[in-house]
Amino acid sequence: MPIRWDYKFFTLVIMKKIIFYFLILVIISSCAKQKEKDETMNSATSRKWWKEAVVYQIYPRSFKDTNGDGIGDLKGIISKLDYVKSLGVDVVWLNPIYGSPNADNGYDISDYRSIMKEFGTMQDFDTLLKDMHEKGLKLVMDLVVNHTSDEHRWFKESRKSRDNPYRDYYHWLPAEKGKPPFRPGAFEADGSGWRYDSVTNSYYLHYFSYKQPDLNWENPKVRQEIYKMMNWWLKKGIDGFRMDVIPFIAKDTTFPVITQKILDEKYKGRWDIYLASGPHLHDYLKEMNKEVLSKYDIMSLAEGAGMTKETALNFVDEDRHELDMGYHFDGVSLGYIPGYFKKMDPNWSLVEFKKIYSDWDAVYKDKGWGTIYLGNHDQPRMVSRWGNDSPEFRAPSSKMLTTFLLSMRGTPYYYYGDEIGMTNAKFDKIEDYRDIETLAAYEKVKLAGGDLKQFIEDQKTGGARDNGRTPMQWDTSENAGFTTGTPWLKVNKNYKEVNVAKEDKNPNSVLNYFRRMVKLRKENPVLIYGAYHLLKGDDPNIYAYTRTLDNEKVLVLLNFKDHDVDMQLKELKGSHQTLINNYKSVNVKEDTITLKPYQAVILSLN
Ligand code: GLC
Ligand code: CA
Repeated sequence: MPIRWDYKFFTLVIMKKIIFYFLILVIISSCAKQKEKDETMNSATSRKWWKEAVVYQIYPRSFKDTNGDGIGDLKGIISKLDYVKSLGVDVVWLNPIYGSPNADNGYDISDYRSIMKEFGTMQDFDTLLKDMHEKGLKLVMDLVVNHTSDEHRWFKESRKSRDNPYRDYYHWLPAEKGKPPFRPGAFEADGSGWRYDSVTNSYYLHYFSYKQPDLNWENPKVRQEIYKMMNWWLKKGIDGFRMDVIPFIAKDTTFPVITQKILDEKYKGRWDIYLASGPHLHDYLKEMNKEVLSKYDIMSLAEGAGMTKETALNFVDEDRHELDMGYHFDGVSLGYIPGYFKKMDPNWSLVEFKKIYSDWDAVYKDKGWGTIYLGNHDQPRMVSRWGNDSPEFRAPSSKMLTTFLLSMRGTPYYYYGDEIGMTNAKFDKIEDYRDIETLAAYEKVKLAGGDLKQFIEDQKTGGARDNGRTPMQWDTSENAGFTTGTPWLKVNKNYKEVNVAKEDKNPNSVLNYFRRMVKLRKENPVLIYGAYHLLKGDDPNIYAYTRTLDNEKVLVLLNFKDHDVDMQLKELKGSHQTLINNYKSVNVKEDTITLKPYQAVILSLN
C-alpha cells in the first residue's frame, strides 16, 4: 500500500538523519575531547621525533680512516654505518666536515659549501646521506656561523681595505683610536679577542683564535648569505643543525668597556654570559627560523654557551619560533678547581651534580625541551671524569653513566666511543697534544712562568679536549683498526682491552649494555616523556629519581661510588620489576636497596 510505503520510506529517512546527526555529534564531541587533551598536554610532553631520538655524535677525524693518511674520512663513516645502526640510535651529528685549514679541526670554515679535502668529496657526502637515510638514520650537521676561517674568501676580501665591499662582514676597529676594549679570545695565549692587522692598521674581533674572525650579524648581507647556505644544505636533505656557539653571534658593536664590576653585577662574573647577551640575538634567531628552519621537518640544537636557566627558554620556547633545543654547560663545568686550566677536583660533589640536572629539568617542565650529555669533542671522556676508568670499574661505571644519560628527560647526545667505555688519553707530553685550546693554555702557563709538569698532569683528569678525540677503537689490530697509517692523534694505549670487536662478542659488555639501554628507552615512553622527580637529593653517593607518565612509574638508582651503598626508599616497598641492571642481581630488603660499586638499576614500580 502506498501510504504504508510512504510511512516506511519516511521513517527510513528520519532514521538515517538521526544516525547521521548522531554520528556528527559523536565526531564533534570526540574532537572537543581531543582538543581538551591537547591543551592539557603541555608542550613538554607533546611528541616530536627529535624528542624521542637518541643522537650519536661522530668526530669524523677520529672515526675511521680508509686511505691510510691517518685522518678519519667520510668513506670511513659510510663503511661503519651498519655498526652505527646496530646501536639503535636515530640521529648522527657530525662535527664540521666543510672546507677548512683546520686551525680548530674544522671549526674554522673557509668554504661552507665544500667538503674538507681530508674527509673526501661532495660525492662521498651524497653517498653518506643517501646510505644513512636508507638505513633510517638522520644526519645533523654542525653549523659554525659565529665566525669563519681567516682563509674564507669573505675575510680575505674584508682585510684588503677599509672600503672593501666585504669589510663589514666582520668586526673591525681602526687602530688610530687605540686598542679596543677587552674581549676574550679563548684560544690565544694572551687571552685577547682582538688581533691587529697591519694591512689596514685595524683590529678585528675573534672570540676564539685569530684564525677564526667573528662575523658581523648586524650586516643583513651576512645573514642572507648564511640563510642561503643553510637552505642549500637542507635542500640536499640533511635533518638539522647543531649550532656552534650560536648565543655569541650578536655583538654590541659600540664595543663598550666591560669592567669587572659590570661583569660581576650583570653577568655573574662570567664572560660567556656577557657574550651570549648581545642585542638582537633573538631577532636573528627568529629571522633564521622564518627564512630557514620552519620550512623543513628538522631539528635544531644550540650549543648553549653562556645560556643560563633564566635565558634558556628564550631560545627554545616553541611559541617564540626560534630553536628546538640547547645544551647547557652547567653540568660539564662542575668540579673544576678555580685558578687552573680545567683541573678536576676528584672529590666533586654528587649532591651538586644532582642539583644541576634537576634544576635544568625544571626549566623545561612545561615548555621547551632539554638535552642530556656528559661528553663531546670539547670534553674529556665521561667515564674518566664522572665514573672511574680503573680496569676494575671502567665497565660498570660506564654502564651506570649510560643509564643516567638514557633515563633522563631530554634528548640524549651520546659521544662516539663512550659506548665501549673509551677513557681519557692522558698523554704525558705536550708534543702528543694537537688541540689549539690546550696548546694555547700551555703557552699561557709558560708565559706566566707556571708549573708545566703540573699542567700536563692536570690535563689527564679534566682538561684537554684531545682526551675525548682519540681514534675510535675498533679492534686489536695496529692502531685499533682506525688507520693503516700514522693516526693524526695517538690511539689510546688501552685499545687491546677496550674495542668494538671484543665488546661486540661479549653480551655483558659496555657496548651491549648501551644497546639494551637504547632499546629500553625506545620501548618505554615513560623514559622519554615521563615527569622527573629527584629523590633524596642530599644523599652524597646515590642519584635516585622517578619518572612518571600516566600510570607508568619507574625508579632509577645510580651508585656513583666505588663501594657498596644502601638507600632506604618507601618506593621500594611495593612490588617492582627490574627493567635493567648492570650487575647480575638487585639486593632489596623491604624498603632498602644495597647497590654495588657503580651499580645502576631501573625498576618499574607498577
Ligand atoms: C665550540 C666548539 C668547539 C670550538 C669552538 C669554536 O665550542 O664545540 O669545538 O672550538 O666552538 O668554534
Ligand atoms: Ca683518511
